[in-house]
Amino acid sequence: MSDTNSNPRLILLGPPGAGKGTQAEKLSEHLDVPHLSAGERLRRAVDEGTEAGQRAEPYIEQGKLVPVEVVVDIMSEAMFFGEGAEGFVVDGFPRNIDQYRELRETLENEGEEIDNVISLEVPEEEIIRRLTGRRICEECGRNYHVDFRPPEEDNKCDVCGGSLYQREDDRPETIQERLDVYREESLPVKSKYREEDLLVEIDASGSIEDVFEDIRSRIDI
Ligand code: AP5
Repeated sequence: MSDTNSNPRLILLGPPGAGKGTQAEKLSEHLDVPHLSAGERLRRAVDEGTEAGQRAEPYIEQGKLVPVEVVVDIMSEAMFFGEGAEGFVVDGFPRNIDQYRELRETLENEGEEIDNVISLEVPEEEIIRRLTGRRICEECGRNYHVDFRPPEEDNKCDVCGGSLYQREDDRPETIQERLDVYREESLPVKSKYREEDLLVEIDASGSIEDVFEDIRSRIDI
C-alpha cells in the first residue's frame, strides 16, 4: 500500500491488549480514515440499551465472542455503507471463521478488497500488564495506560478532560477467558489471511511509537 491509495482498507488482528485500538487510532489519524472498533461499537450498543447491546452484554462480560449476526450487522454497516465507505482501519473484526466468511462474501458482493491485515504479536505476560493498567476516557474513549501512556493529569483525559475508567472485562479471570477465545477462535482467521497473502505480522512488544513505525514501513504508508 502507499500514501497514494485514497481509500485504504486495513484490518488489525491480535490478542486482547496487543495494542489494536492504540495503533488503529494512530493509523486512522495518519491515513485520515475512520477507526472502526468492533469492541467499542458493541460496548456503545450495550450502554445505549439497543437490542444488539442487550444480546451482546452477557458475552462481553464473560470475555466470550458475541453471536456472529450481532457483530456482522454492526461492522458491515459501518465498513461499507456508513463512515467507512471511503476507507477504514478496523480493529477486532473478523474474529472467527464464520465472521471471516461473512466479511468475504460482503467484500465480493460490494466489489471491494482489503489492502492489508496487520497482526500484532505480543507475549502473554506483557498482555496482562497492558490490560490491567489500561484506562479509558469515559467521554471520548481515548485509551491510556497508567505506566506506558499516562495522562498528563491523574485520571483526566488529555484531549477532552473526561474522567478515566477501567473496563469491566479487564479483570484477571476475564482476561484469561479472552486469551483462550483468541487462541481457539481467532488464530484460524490469521491463517486464512496468510493464505490470502494479506497478512503482515508485527512484533508489537516494543513501544507504541516503535510499533507504529514498524507498521508504517511494512505497509509503505
Ligand atoms: P475488544 O474491545 O475488541 O477487546 P480486545 O480484542 O480484547 O482488545 P482490547 O481492546 O482489550 O485490546 P487492544 O488490542 O485494542 O489493546 P489496546 O490498544 O487497548 O473486544 C471486547 C469484547 O467485545 C470481546 O471480548 C467480545 O466479547 C466482544 N467482541 C469484540 N469484537 C468482537 C467480534 N468481532 N466478534 C464477537 N465479539 C466481539 O492496548 C491495551 C493497553 O496497553 C492500553 O492501556 C494501551 O495504552 C497499552 N499499550 C498499547 N500498546 C502498547 C505498547 N506498544 N507498549 C506499552 N503499552 C501499550
